[in-house]
Amino acid sequence: MKVVEPDAATAGKYFLRVSGGDLHNDPDSVPRLTSLSLFGDDAPLEMEVGCGSGEFLCSLAESRPDTNFIGLDVHLKSLHKGIEAASEARLGNIKFVSVDFRQAYPLFVPDSLDTVYLHFPDPGMKARDKKRRIFDGRFLDEMHRAVVAGGKMSLVTDDEDYFGRMLGLIEKEKRWNRTHGEPHLVGFEPKVKSRFQTLWERRGKKVYRFELRNRKADWR
Ligand SMILES: C[S@@+](CC[C@H](N)C(=O)[O-])C[C@H]1O[C@@H](n2cnc3c(N)ncnc32)[C@H](O)[C@@H]1O
Repeated sequence: MKVVEPDAATAGKYFLRVSGGDLHNDPDSVPRLTSLSLFGDDAPLEMEVGCGSGEFLCSLAESRPDTNFIGLDVHLKSLHKGIEAASEARLGNIKFVSVDFRQAYPLFVPDSLDTVYLHFPDPGMKARDKKRRIFDGRFLDEMHRAVVAGGKMSLVTDDEDYFGRMLGLIEKEKRWNRTHGEPHLVGFEPKVKSRFQTLWERRGKKVYRFELRNRKADWR
């Protein structure tokens, strides 16, 4: 991937780097992941977990200027690519955060997110890596708190094993409702497809999808 590192002004506008050390030693020094803290306003906030090079998120930000978007990822080069695209398009409602998502849970504030996207998360090949998958019981718990009542979560994967695990957890869930009658959806047709969706579809892989709505209001 050919990438240009952002200059200081561009990084200042589009980038937040959160180190594991700061999260561990001085979590209060790290900004919370809210619209107010990151954008200085109270617009609705949407987040992509593992946003990669940000094609999907940038297209959402471009088409909905009244909403803020954050993309979180651990891979710096991918984030630089997203920052480059956001800067070229002069977007004012998107930021990229370099952080290991599994360490970022203390940065979320209740009722601060409108929508969470987890699209094509790394499935992990070895048993050890599968244990580090982002979608698990804790993810559902933490996002239940962070997402507003009626807010949504969009989950997309091409990996049959990960899909089975998602389906198993979602079928037991009482705090999230599927927005669709079917147990899952097949295919995903956003205006702009992400790098990995394009890649996997070109290789003939099937795409599985769930859309969940937070039942927080019924749950309180
Ligand atoms: C298969 S890629 C998908 C990227 C993007 N969503 C897409 O559809 O093109 C998975 C992404 O998740 C990121 N990732 C994996 N584990 C992560 C973690 N613990 N925290 C944040 N990002 C993570 C990877 O760096 C990678 O960019």
